[in-house]
Amino acid sequence: MSIKNICCIGAGYVGGPTMAVIAQKCPEIKVNVVDINPQRIADWNDENLDKLPIFEPGLKEVVAEARGRNLFFSTDIEKGIREAEMIFISVNTPTKTYGKGKGMAADLKFVELCARQIAEVATEDKIVVEKSTLPVRTAQAIKDILDNVGNGVKFQILSNPEFLAEGTAVNDLHHADRVLIGGDIATAEGRKAMDALSDIYAHWLPKERILQTNVWSSELSKLTANAFLAQRVSSINALSALCEKTEADIDEVARAIGSDSRIGQKFLKSSVGFGGSCFQKDILNLVYICRSLGLQEVADYWEQVIILNDYQKRRFADGIIATLNNTISGKKITFFGWAFKKDTNDTRESAAIYVADHLLDDQGSIHVYDPKVRPQQMYADLNYLNTRSEKENEEFLTVCTDPYEAAKGAHAIAVLTEWDEFKTYDWQRIYNNMLKPAHIFDGRNILDHKELIKIGFKVRAIGKAY
Ligand code: UDX
Ligand code: ADP
Repeated sequence: MSIKNICCIGAGYVGGPTMAVIAQKCPEIKVNVVDINPQRIADWNDENLDKLPIFEPGLKEVVAEARGRNLFFSTDIEKGIREAEMIFISVNTPTKTYGKGKGMAADLKFVELCARQIAEVATEDKIVVEKSTLPVRTAQAIKDILDNVGNGVKFQILSNPEFLAEGTAVNDLHHADRVLIGGDIATAEGRKAMDALSDIYAHWLPKERILQTNVWSSELSKLTANAFLAQRVSSINALSALCEKTEADIDEVARAIGSDSRIGQKFLKSSVGFGGSCFQKDILNLVYICRSLGLQEVADYWEQVIILNDYQKRRFADGIIATLNNTISGKKITFFGWAFKKDTNDTRESAAIYVADHLLDDQGSIHVYDPKVRPQQMYADLNYLNTRSEKENEEFLTVCTDPYEAAKGAHAIAVLTEWDEFKTYDWQRIYNNMLKPAHIFDGRNILDHKELIKIGFKVRAIGKAY
């Protein structure tokens, strides 16, 4: 079975780049990406490739190659579904903000809506692929809807979780460590569907990197891969607190630990706390599932990863307040960075939001510079927390377009995102224009601290005793 027409529902951080790369690598397959948000679709179709809704290194080149050839963006969801042999569901699955499982469970309403729409529109057999991160056994829920609402059409449900990381999405897709395809491995139809999806990835990835499993293993692997990665960050961040109280240096400790080939160097960079749309959501989801299944100890174990991450963000903010004589009321504090990591304009769960919220509670005046995040996004992030009125957020948080302006007259600079450009600034010039003593709080340990201290800055960093 060879697929000629794909539809992807959801043109976000997952659906957009993934489909762009599939279209690039499979020119004979027509790829339709559909979304309910007309602005998003208009942005994907913008002539000016700098206006794509998602900033990812290398993405605009891929879009330029495939768009209009075999890659299309549209709001016509029904047509997309009708024409496709294979439909990817890449809609958002945020943590529930209401009712049962509030603050813990994944909200599956968008996924469910998609399943219903597919069932209502489809007139021929289809393969439905869950690409969004979902709790274990969601495939069954989708199947129940498709089998009961549909008009006799047969569906195969596959789980194909996305492992790309933002900021490196295109490279991660081009050179994936593995692609996971979960399906009904016990039946011939199930295996046929899995092979059809495997063939798509085999256009550019070696066969041995395409793993086929049962659908539950695939779903659980996605949640737990993220939990393992987040756990490493929380582990090193826990040690950073200990380093700050001793003469140990967290970067040296991380290097020493990571040099053990059994452990490895990656994901041991201490920081102000992890963010992003996946880590927290997936762990909360895992915790919720474990609790629902009566596995209290397992749930508590994973919940600590989140508790430690919240502690790290708060500890950073408290450190700023304590250093500035226990009050920051009316003091100008400059944030370098708002995105949850470098090379992305995504701010979901970014540590910067929580640190800002805490400092605003103490009446600090925050001035933010981020090379990619739009001002309205920063305000939306703060307003979403509902800590204070929108008017107050606007009054006490200022967004700047120039880093030197942002730092002028500031009491302190806090680095929240590890953007490379921060390392290349004229720090002497920044120092000259700040109030003295001039403080730097490096929440990413990216700056040259020795050099900054030589200039005259008072430097505090994660996991360092100075
Ligand atoms: C993650 C997974 O890596 C990816 O496989 C999955 O598909 C989606 O979730 P992403 O959230 O895009 O990807 O970014 P990632 O690079 O994993 O970083 C997550 C957070 O951890 C960021 O805030 C980052 O700054 C932080 N981090 C990461 C650290 O603080 N230290 C590290 O050593 C690594
Ligand atoms: P992710 O990081 O999972 O890709 P995003 O929020 O970036 O999450 O993207 C999800 C996209 O899915 C959004 O653009 C949203 O408008 C779209 N979406 C949500 N529900 C539906 C739906 N029922 N039909 C079509 N698109 C949807």
